[in-house]
Amino acid sequence: MCEVPLVELHNGVKIPQLGLGVYKVEKGNEAYQTVSTALSSGYRHIDTASFYDNEIEVGNAIKDSGISREDLFITTKVWNDEQGYEKTLAAFDRSLSKLQLEYVDLYLIHWPVPGFQETWKALEKLYTDGRVRAIGVSNFMKRHLESLLETSSVVPMINQIEFHPKLFLNDLQDYCKRNRIQLQAWSPLARGRYLDNQTLIDTGEKYGKTPAQVILRWDIQHGVVTIPKSVHKSRQLENADIFDFQLTEEDMERIDELNENMRVGSDPNELY
Ligand SMILES: NC(=O)c1ccc[n+]([C@@H]2O[C@H](COP(=O)([O-])OP(=O)(O)OC[C@H]3O[C@@H](n4cnc5c(N)ncnc54)[C@H](OP(=O)(O)O)[C@@H]3O)[C@@H](O)[C@H]2O)c1
Repeated sequence: MCEVPLVELHNGVKIPQLGLGVYKVEKGNEAYQTVSTALSSGYRHIDTASFYDNEIEVGNAIKDSGISREDLFITTKVWNDEQGYEKTLAAFDRSLSKLQLEYVDLYLIHWPVPGFQETWKALEKLYTDGRVRAIGVSNFMKRHLESLLETSSVVPMINQIEFHPKLFLNDLQDYCKRNRIQLQAWSPLARGRYLDNQTLIDTGEKYGKTPAQVILRWDIQHGVVTIPKSVHKSRQLENADIFDFQLTEEDMERIDELNENMRVGSDPNELY
């Protein structure tokens, strides 16, 4: 696997621009094998969450990999019913203990729910106490971020949102850039729903790449951190084999134009 570029967050911490997502990777053998395979293939960035119920297996795979802790970038998230100041601190302890780690690299508020400002204060405490190297949010639209920035003392380092060519949230990306918040793409492959798109196929054919690789390369060239999920080694390797070609400006524009504001997951605007 080629070396994955690092992106520097506004606090100087560096995150590998490609990682492995583990949502819907079944706890037990599937999660353990999936993460073990990814780590032995060269992945160094894993995105989990307390909601995914596989932190124990992620932790076991990390421990058994023999890879130095400082070479890994591990993200987890506080779930909606764990939010609030004290509850978040307790949820963080539970996640850390399941992961069998002394710190996580990135801790995120999974969704904006009422009272997320209090949750953020807990994340700020964890950050100041040195128990997380970076803190951020997920599924925050511009209005959620504006509200957070009014009361926060630490600007989130990351906003992890659904982002792919059919949901190209250009304005949100610009807003995040202006505020030094790094965008991270979840469901970057839109869960495989439109890998038969002709523009993606034609673009891939020019470079000997698959539609999935074209999408992930489009993320990289937009400066986005991306975390495709696959339980299959061959696809994990395919998804990481995107650092030896370059889409042209015309390719990028054609892919940008696929946007239809189409979601495969929940819409944060409908939640809160
Ligand atoms: N913050 C949030 O609210 C949030 C929400 C959703 C997801 N996420 C994070 O983002 C990660 C990725 O999102 P996701 O899992 O929803 O979807 P995704 O990565 O867009 O797509 C995963 C699906 O695509 C398939 N796939 C993977 N690589 C492929 C390839 N090269 N060719 C064809 N099919 C391929 C996978 O199947 P196989 O596994 O069978 O290969 C799986 O069905 C999650 O795992 C999670 O870590 C965060």
